[in-house]
Amino acid sequence: MKYFRMPLVGLLSATLLVTGVQTAVADEAAPQAPLRTLAERADLRIGTAVDMAALADDTTYRRTTGREFNSVTAENVMKWEVVEPARGTYDWSGADALVRFARERGQVVRGHTLVWHSQLPGWLTSGVADGSIDAAELRGILRRHITTEVKRYKGRIQQWDVVNEVFEEDGSLRNSIWLQQLGPSYIADAFRWAHAADPKAKLFLNDYNVEGINAKSTAYYELAKRLRAEGVPVQGFGIQGHLAIQYGFPGDVPENLARFARLGMQTAFTEVDVRMILPADEEKLATQATYFRGLLDACLGTRSCKSFTVWGFTDKYSWVPGVFEGQGAATLTGEDFGRKPAYGAVREGLAEGR
Ligand code: XIL
Repeated sequence: MKYFRMPLVGLLSATLLVTGVQTAVADEAAPQAPLRTLAERADLRIGTAVDMAALADDTTYRRTTGREFNSVTAENVMKWEVVEPARGTYDWSGADALVRFARERGQVVRGHTLVWHSQLPGWLTSGVADGSIDAAELRGILRRHITTEVKRYKGRIQQWDVVNEVFEEDGSLRNSIWLQQLGPSYIADAFRWAHAADPKAKLFLNDYNVEGINAKSTAYYELAKRLRAEGVPVQGFGIQGHLAIQYGFPGDVPENLARFARLGMQTAFTEVDVRMILPADEEKLATQATYFRGLLDACLGTRSCKSFTVWGFTDKYSWVPGVFEGQGAATLTGEDFGRKPAYGAVREGLAEGR
């Protein structure tokens, strides 16, 4: 462990304890513009997922969220299991707090997410499983959920992830309760209901492993093309961007964004993190930086890609170690908020602009 001096940027303390691997790459001299300032010049929203517990408890986290980003996404508090824990009983406390935080800091909000197979409330999944909720009722429940949530934040959500992770890797529709109970038309229905509730919000499809051109991203392309031909209000394709350095950088990312742009759609990177097998070392962190930069450059190179969101900005609260065994170090800064090469790479990319 080494101590070294950091510039007095915002409220980071002057002297930070940073692990050896990060030392080589942290800031050197003068205070630098925060990411959001550079992003504004590049006509880009730079966002982060926000962990509401950390936002409440951790001053450095809260100040960094406000200082560095001009877009925020709820990591969990807008998901169905959180907002309607018991049927007809709502808890908007976390979502309201985030929307308020964002407004106070001039940030836009990405709404995440309305229809997903995961993090559904227990009353809903068990009701479907035991047959007490039939398909017709389920459709009404979904419609009410979408309408209630989107209306509540009408005018305050820039982009909504309306459907999340609806395809399998081979491009077939995911066998979720939505597909099983309602058939494939639930996707168009979800977009129509969301649009009716907030006509100005940009409505997105969203998934992982769709950075480059592959069977899954092509399924989204075909779906988007068909929905738009039918007049269904779908305006954006969200690419999560959960990468891992041991799997290589995906090919054809710019080409993939371009084909959605040709459909007249926006694109966005919505959940970027780049994990590695632990322990991290200098070489892995350097590779990681090139991955962040690769996705960012693809976005900056596509005029209709106006939003780039990281799935958390500090390893202190990253979801990765809890889900991918033996992996981590996936975000822009360490557990101590010390900046990694990836932070510098993103800053450089933003500074270079489009
Ligand atoms: C993750 C959160 O980060 C975790 O805190 C939670 O336990 C599970 O969900 N794709 C998505 C996100 O669309 O909502 C997921 O977020 C990560 C993968």
